Formats: sequence, C-alpha cells, structure tokens
Amino acid sequence: MSARVALVTGGTGGIGTAIVERLAKMGIKVATNYRNEEKTKAWRKKMADKGIEVLTVKGDVSDPEACKAMVKAIEDKLGPIDILVNNAGITRDTTFHKMTYEQWTDVVNTNLNACFNVTRPIIEGMRARKWGRIVQISSINGQKGQYGQANYAAAKAGMHGFTISLAQENAKFGITVNTVSPGYIGTDMVMAVPEEVRAKIVAQIPLGRLGEPDEIAYAVTFFLDDKAAWVTGANLAINGGHYMGW
Ligand code: CAA
Repeated sequence: MSARVALVTGGTGGIGTAIVERLAKMGIKVATNYRNEEKTKAWRKKMADKGIEVLTVKGDVSDPEACKAMVKAIEDKLGPIDILVNNAGITRDTTFHKMTYEQWTDVVNTNLNACFNVTRPIIEGMRARKWGRIVQISSINGQKGQYGQANYAAAKAGMHGFTISLAQENAKFGITVNTVSPGYIGTDMVMAVPEEVRAKIVAQIPLGRLGEPDEIAYAVTFFLDDKAAWVTGANLAINGGHYMGW
C-alpha cells in the first residue's frame, strides 16, 4: 500500500507542529495550510533541518473557497487525503459583555466553520475509497467552559457535535471520526494568557504542569492506528486531570 496522505490544518502552530512531526515520522505524507508567508518559511526550514518534509499550501481555513482550492492543490501533489486533523484554531479572549461581533465570528469561523470548509471537499473521496480518519482538536474549555471564552468554548463544544454526527454518517464507509480535547498545553496560545491568570490555572491541574504538544500528537496517532478501527465518535480528554467529566 502506498503511504497515507494527511492534512493537518494549522500545522505550523504549537500542537500542529507536534502532530505534523509525529505523522511524518510514521511515514505519512503530510500537508498543512498556512496564512503567514514569513513565519512559514522559517517553520519549513526548522522542519527540513529535522529531516521532515511537509507540503505547505497557503489557505485560510475560515474561507470555504480557499479550502476547496487548498484541498485540490494537496491532492494534485500528494494524492487523495486519507487523514484529516482539524487543528487550526485561534482565541480572542474577553468576557462576553465586552465581546465584539468580530471577536465572536473570528473564533467561530476559524475554529468551527473551518471544520465544514476543510472536511466537506475531502469527505466524498474518503467515502468513495471506503477509508478515512478524521480527528478534531477541540479543547478542555469546550467541555467545561471558561471565564473569558464564550466564543472559543462554544466553537470547541461545536466541534465535538460535528464529530459525533459525522461518525454516525460515515461509519459504514470505513471512516472514523473522533475528538481530542487538550487541556492547557505550553504553546504560544496558552503563554499569551496573563502570567498571574495562568499560574492560577496551572494550580488547578492535578498533574501540576502544562501539557506538552507531543502529548497531544501521541493521542492523535492512537485514532489513526488500524487497531483503533472500532473507535469512533469518541472524545479523548488529555488535560493532566484538570477536567474529569465524562
Ligand atoms: N472565575 C471567576 N472570576 C474570574 C475568573 C474566573 N475564572 N477569571 C477572571 N475573573 C474575574 C477577575 O477576578 C476580575 O474580577 P474583579 O473585577 O472583581 O476584580 C474580573 O473577572 C475581570 O473581569 P474583566 O471583565 O475585567 O475581564 P477582562 O476583560 O480583563 O478579561 C480575561 C479577563 C480575558 C478573562 C482574562 O482573565 C483571561 O485571559 N483569562 C484566561 C482565559 C483562558 O483561560 N484562556 C485560555 C487560552 S488558551 C486556550 O484557549 C487553549 C485551550 O484550549 C486550553
């Protein structure tokens, strides 16, 4: 069998980079999208220095037309996409009574509507080929809510609703659809939280530290394994014990 092809959206970010690295090391052909040319140039060099080859395609996941073009460009170059990790995400934290419409829509468009934009042009091919793996990277805050994140928590909770519906519709086509819900990971996104607020958050984590991006990437690979073929519609919460709801 030829190597599988994966698209990891937001692959140049903190968690995204770890997922890209793990998948590439498994022999999977990996592509990611990007928005910022300069940042991506430096990122590509960092990957190349580690011997990791990644196809990078310019495209904003909040734009449905750009996503169609991005998927076509990847499939033309690498072949049909077998594995999709909907990982791209942003925050615009503020309490709801101060939140602007733009802060709401930016987050919903990039974190949730992107799942439609990116998955829609890929799913038909997966159904025709009768194999696919789709993983949403949601968040602990989609499960428990978070002061200052009505937009983000709503989008992240929506991602799991998307997962469990797609899982039902596509099971008979050999496609599994699952969610990973990371807790607070030591990425730029979390480091942007004011230090005193972050310290209080870390104090609530039973395992006493922020997570590592690779601890999330490892969870993603679980869902890709053939031995996980009976796992669909699941949500794997990885958060150092910060939230243990089920
Ligand atoms: N519970 C109760 N009260 C809280 C609170 C909480 N968790 N957090 C803040 N407050 C209170 C403060 O004590 C303060 O109270 P007083 O006014 O009585 O002193 C008040 O809220 C501050 O409210 P403001 O309206 O002034 O808030 P703000 O506009 O300054 O916004 C904030 C503050 C943006 C919410 C800031 O506290 C913050 O950044 N919090 C962290 C949000 C967060 O966890 N983001 C996660 C980012 S990483 C990520 O999203 C990745 C992932 O998936 C985990």
